[in-house]
Amino acid sequence: MSIDSTDKIKAEVIRCKLCNLCRNRTNAVPGEGNSKASIMFVGEAPGRNEDEKGRPFVGLAGKILDETLEKVGLVRSRIFVTNIVKCRPPGNRVPTEEERRVCKNYLEREISIVSPKIICILGRTAYQSLLGGGSILGNRGKFIEKDSKLFFLTIHPAAIIYNNKLRYALEKDMQTLVSECSRLNIPI
Ligand code: URA
Ligand code: SF4
Repeated sequence: MSIDSTDKIKAEVIRCKLCNLCRNRTNAVPGEGNSKASIMFVGEAPGRNEDEKGRPFVGLAGKILDETLEKVGLVRSRIFVTNIVKCRPPGNRVPTEEERRVCKNYLEREISIVSPKIICILGRTAYQSLLGGGSILGNRGKFIEKDSKLFFLTIHPAAIIYNNKLRYALEKDMQTLVSECSRLNIPI
């Protein structure tokens, strides 16, 4: 059996037709970044800009993510960024349970290859899909251990587009994440 890699997953995702989301996409959007990253960020699904470019978090939500990372001293090229589903749902609707279930194998493989010390969940969809969680606002800023993996919960950067007050919450959480990395001697 050949060794799995993020490049291999990328090649498979790009031509994947396992669910209906392949029909309306321009480009599938595999995870990208440092395949040895200490921190992996998991969003919901590609939006319009991501679909056009075939890259995660490159639109407005991506800009907010980048600004927040920079504020707390994280570097985008050193982390790994991915989504629950790799193709854009029409009109940016929330991906269905079926779409998430079908696409999950790619995310699981990304997690197993990168083997991040902390998986940072961005928003409700990723929280639901990975941990069966509910409200993100009630749980943001928390660490959760599951299946011997460490997860951290924060809001989705796109939430800030609709409510600018949440910018502070996201920054505060990212600061918590960085402090915990330093406490646990996790290189970032
Ligand atoms: N929102 C997401 O959840 N993921 C992206 O890649 C872009 C916007
Ligand atoms: Fe394949 Fe996932 Fe895209 Fe569905 S969303 S077509 S499972 S890559």
